[in-house]
Amino acid sequence: MDTTILRNRFREQFGHTGDLFFSPGRINLIGEHTDYNGGFVFPGAIDKGIAAEICINASRKVRLLAIDLKSDNYVEYDIDENEKPTQHWACYIFGVCKEMQKRGVTLGGFNSAFSGDIPLGAGMSSSAALECVFAFALNTIFADGRVDMFELAKIGQAAEHNYCGVKCGIMDQFASIFGKQGCLIRLDCRSLEYEYFPFNPQEYSLVLIDSCVKHSLGTEYNERRESCERAVALANRKFQNVETLRDIDYAMLDAVKSGLSDTDYRRSRYVLDEKERVMAVSDALNRGDYETVGKKMYETHWGLSRDYTVSCEEVDFLVGIAEECGVTGSRIMGGGFGGCTINLVRKTLYDKFTSKAVREYSKKFGITPKVYPVVIGDGTRKLQ
Ligand code: GLA
Repeated sequence: MDTTILRNRFREQFGHTGDLFFSPGRINLIGEHTDYNGGFVFPGAIDKGIAAEICINASRKVRLLAIDLKSDNYVEYDIDENEKPTQHWACYIFGVCKEMQKRGVTLGGFNSAFSGDIPLGAGMSSSAALECVFAFALNTIFADGRVDMFELAKIGQAAEHNYCGVKCGIMDQFASIFGKQGCLIRLDCRSLEYEYFPFNPQEYSLVLIDSCVKHSLGTEYNERRESCERAVALANRKFQNVETLRDIDYAMLDAVKSGLSDTDYRRSRYVLDEKERVMAVSDALNRGDYETVGKKMYETHWGLSRDYTVSCEEVDFLVGIAEECGVTGSRIMGGGFGGCTINLVRKTLYDKFTSKAVREYSKKFGITPKVYPVVIGDGTRKLQ
């Protein structure tokens, strides 16, 4: 990412320079809505993200400039303030500061400006990138890197829970921090054990098609989580050691079915299905069997659309076009309610598919979808 404008604006605003940090967005091959259910996910960091320049300012003031925003882009508050800022974007950073302070990190005032190239609300985790770039930067400048990387990811997640109203899982922050060039990460969200999977198929590419339906995760996302929690609570009364849907099999779910609404049952069953698909995909990747990977991606999509109900007409249409074109795999990515599809496509079909998707989608919805070839990049880091 080119940081020239960021550096110039920082200098104009504050009259000095600071240190530069970068945190990426993420893709997720498979394992959707499994993270907060104690399951597995398969994300990777991308080459797009958020860069922040930051410098300690020897006062108690936090000064923040969001240089991509046209208005309401400057915020100043006291590091000891407990009332969160009115600007939503600033709450992510405010939340990260508070969560670090809760963990005993001594923070002072700082000046910062940031900028990014991840499309917002497209399911590529711009919010996790924002949280993680600040968690990492503050850890570097105020704590000599003493907070470990797992904790930084958890700080980002806690900021989102407690200051931004989204009860997200750990996947996005983990992928942003631990990303590695050319590798996907199979992460066990219960134990946080993870394994890098080099992902460089000769004959296939990953490409995102952005429906441009903007999502902002909130109530509807939290409701999905609550559905799962209700199933867990019921199963927990009947069986031992049930903490998340990870601990439940189909027979156990059926044993509590009568106590669940149809919606909660279907959502929970989707999570059990997805658990199996992630394992099937990791076996398939080990064999280099991308056709199976793709088949599972379609199954995930229709599960998310019909059972978990987090898709929308526009995204279903894009997946439909992928199916028609013979694309190997396609599905909605991230929290849902809009955003991108992730597509595993044979290189020989790439141009035909992407141009058809753009053409047909524009014709139907009057919006030109964006096409983002996936480049799997490194995780959060200091630049220069
Ligand atoms: C969002 C959340 C993640 C995860 C995905 C769905 O991206 O932030 O924790 O739950 O949705 O898989």
